[in-house]
Amino acid sequence: MLKKKVYVCCDCGQESAAWLGRCPSCGKYGTMEEFYPATNGIAPNGGLATPISVAANRFSASTLKNISQTSEKRITTGLSELDNVLSGGIVEGSLTLLGGDPGIGKSTLLLQICQNVGSLNHNVLYVSGEESLRQLKLRADRLNVTTDNLQIAAETDLNVIYQIIAAIKPHLLIIDSIQTMTDSQSNSVAGSVSQIRACTHMLMKIAKTQNIAVLVIGHVTKEGTIAGPRVMEHMVDTVLYFEGERRENYRVIRAVKNRFGGTNEIGLFEMGERGLSPVDNPSLYMLSGRPTDTPGSAITCAIEGSRPILAEVQALLIYTTFGTPRRSATGFDYNRAVMLLAVLEKHAGLQLSNCDCYINLAGGIRLAEPALDAAVIVAAASGFRNKPTDPFTVAFGEVGLAGEIRAVSNIDKRIAEAEKMGFKTCVIPKDCLRTIKKTGNTKNPCRILGAANVNELLAAAIL
Ligand code: TYD
Ligand code: MG
Repeated sequence: MLKKKVYVCCDCGQESAAWLGRCPSCGKYGTMEEFYPATNGIAPNGGLATPISVAANRFSASTLKNISQTSEKRITTGLSELDNVLSGGIVEGSLTLLGGDPGIGKSTLLLQICQNVGSLNHNVLYVSGEESLRQLKLRADRLNVTTDNLQIAAETDLNVIYQIIAAIKPHLLIIDSIQTMTDSQSNSVAGSVSQIRACTHMLMKIAKTQNIAVLVIGHVTKEGTIAGPRVMEHMVDTVLYFEGERRENYRVIRAVKNRFGGTNEIGLFEMGERGLSPVDNPSLYMLSGRPTDTPGSAITCAIEGSRPILAEVQALLIYTTFGTPRRSATGFDYNRAVMLLAVLEKHAGLQLSNCDCYINLAGGIRLAEPALDAAVIVAAASGFRNKPTDPFTVAFGEVGLAGEIRAVSNIDKRIAEAEKMGFKTCVIPKDCLRTIKKTGNTKNPCRILGAANVNELLAAAIL
């Protein structure tokens, strides 16, 4: 039988019946690759070609009441920040993808998990297609991985790995990385779309049938030559992304898909001499080293998942003689920054049209929350007027196009975090003044000021 051929974008996984020079979904050129979908029974529709042979009970459905409910068993990773992101731990029999730039620390993180899980008396198998056993040993020594429950293999053939799994029967299986794995039934090169898909199907089957928690590393690639983890996102149960600047020490783990919990929590880690350690107080981390008396710096409180995080927004505004002034935003949405600068020009009368404006969220983290608007406004105006902001003031609130400051959620949490970190004043949307609860259980309560529009906000926050 002739196999059906499709073309798949290496970058975003878009499928097409015909080859296209440019991917219609992500817009990249030259990323479409030939792909033959698996028909060996691993594919979800495997077997449907011969319906007669299918067992009779497959043609039935069940009501929700009749499905017995057993909550899924989770393996804790021993890293509280990661457990949080995973809503409690790795679910047995699930397939999790950990994506991230090469060199960001994926192998380091997973080897540390191996130690923690191994010390809880679970069998762990770490399969590396990237490093030799000696290299792995060196890394393990550096990370103080000593558990006897961890077994390591340097192998890339999934069929061989299957045999090793059968012999060891691990609770947790780590595959480093999917781009190096091959399934001998698919005859394309390792790292191609077809190999990645075939290997993911096979790993999914291993996870489900043998009830093993499988963690797979996938490198995010810039070029289309090697397929990135996005082509397997839809197949796996959980997708985690490891982000951060390689030259900085902080790392953020985010869940972008989670079939066993929410996706709104992030985990913060710091890369050190001996691997990654969880950051317990993100606000302290984000604010360390901030200037207290220079113009162009404002503190805000963002909510990431269920946690409040204080962050510093910086703005540098300089006069330019070029006709089109430059705008740049780091760690913050560019279009939103440009919109807020326009609001400042229109409603606070700042002549920004001959200024280059650089907005930066210090600490290297990327946050997308409307409450940050207020701090961008304050930092930009402070930078423009060359007047410092009050270093003990936190400002948050969404800014509308009419220059109004709009209400945001979790006001009490944000105020409590500011109080905990020793701030003295909170400038909040005026609308929220009615709803805040004065719990009175803090020794140093903040002064709360309400701002209805950008002018009131600037008056309250800039010295
Ligand atoms: P690695 O886990 O190999 O990255 P990935 O698997 O995502 O490609 O991490 C590599 C970087 O981490 C490397 O540049 C060195 C650094 N590192 C530390 O800073 N401290 C450590 O303890 C370890 C093991 C690595
Ligand atoms: Mg690695």
